[in-house]
Amino acid sequence: MREDLLELFYWFHRHPELSYEEFGTTEKIREVLNGMGVGLLPVGLETGLVAEVRGALPGPVQALRCDIDALPIAEQSGLSYASETPGKMHACGHDFHITAGLGAIGLLLENRERLCGSVRVFFQPAEESSLGALKVLEKEEAMAGVERIWGFHADPTNPVGTFGIREGSVTAAVDRFVITVTGRGCHGAHPDDGVDPIPAAAAMVQAFQTIVTRNINPFHPALISVTRLEAGNTWNVIPQTAQLEGTVRTMEKADRELFERRVREIAERTAAAYGAAASVEWIPGPPAVCNDRGMAEFAEKKAKEQGFLVVPEEQSLGGDDFSFYMEKVPGCYVKVGTGVGPTIHQPDFKVDPRAIEVGSRYLAGVLLG
Ligand code: NI
Repeated sequence: MREDLLELFYWFHRHPELSYEEFGTTEKIREVLNGMGVGLLPVGLETGLVAEVRGALPGPVQALRCDIDALPIAEQSGLSYASETPGKMHACGHDFHITAGLGAIGLLLENRERLCGSVRVFFQPAEESSLGALKVLEKEEAMAGVERIWGFHADPTNPVGTFGIREGSVTAAVDRFVITVTGRGCHGAHPDDGVDPIPAAAAMVQAFQTIVTRNINPFHPALISVTRLEAGNTWNVIPQTAQLEGTVRTMEKADRELFERRVREIAERTAAAYGAAASVEWIPGPPAVCNDRGMAEFAEKKAKEQGFLVVPEEQSLGGDDFSFYMEKVPGCYVKVGTGVGPTIHQPDFKVDPRAIEVGSRYLAGVLLG
């Protein structure tokens, strides 16, 4: 492997930065790209960059997305190049994404005479916020003329040299809800003087699960998780309000719409049945990542040509804001085996550095066509 890429990977791993705070990361990427003589689009992102490699031959504009942010996790990997920032860690492999992206750019430069069209590489901020892609999409020049987009993710369920590829849905639409149930506070010993919001909230938690089991087609992956339930602040007072927060994950557009409608109906009508009221705040996140069929077939062919193993990409009800780009142009999101080990977002997550060369070579091969 090229030593400079390995050193860069160690540097990015040692210096994790959270969503929207990737200033040092951006500067480092800028320095490397300047050193390579790669043009940057003057899109004016606060963090993140858009690089462009122009081929010698006419052809389309393709894009490659590499996300760059880290997570608020205290690293416990035991690596010699572990995070030097307490409480922050590249636990989702985005340091690998940056490095493989830079490696691919290097290979595209070496093969510029046979590159058709140009390749724009989005070093995208804040993927973990699930809305960072919108920062890039806000800058119209970034997507101008782009015909298709490629994305990839580190995959700790497969060894280096194995690629997970699938046409159709691979990650879920990510929605968030916050529900406030309002009753009437009173003495804990005199519930008849008020309206207790807690039984209403508890009934909702139970009833929401029937959306998956009774409303959604049983063959469609979907879930709802209530992840926060708060009410009251002492033992002998019935509180005025209760609050529920959580997430809904769906793969199909129609299921997504159905889910929002049913959450609102169940919340409002259950509250009413208990004499309380409910207000529902629905916060939509990215839609499902749905791979273009032709691109997925091409991605698979290129992996096999390079002698790699291709396995069906695991579907996940996790999300990726890569899907926002796919609302504009066809795209394909592949999983790059980074060595079997602890899963992403765990404090002992690791990327096998051998995946950098494999990923760079593969991505450059796909982009060269
Ligand atoms: Ni990630």
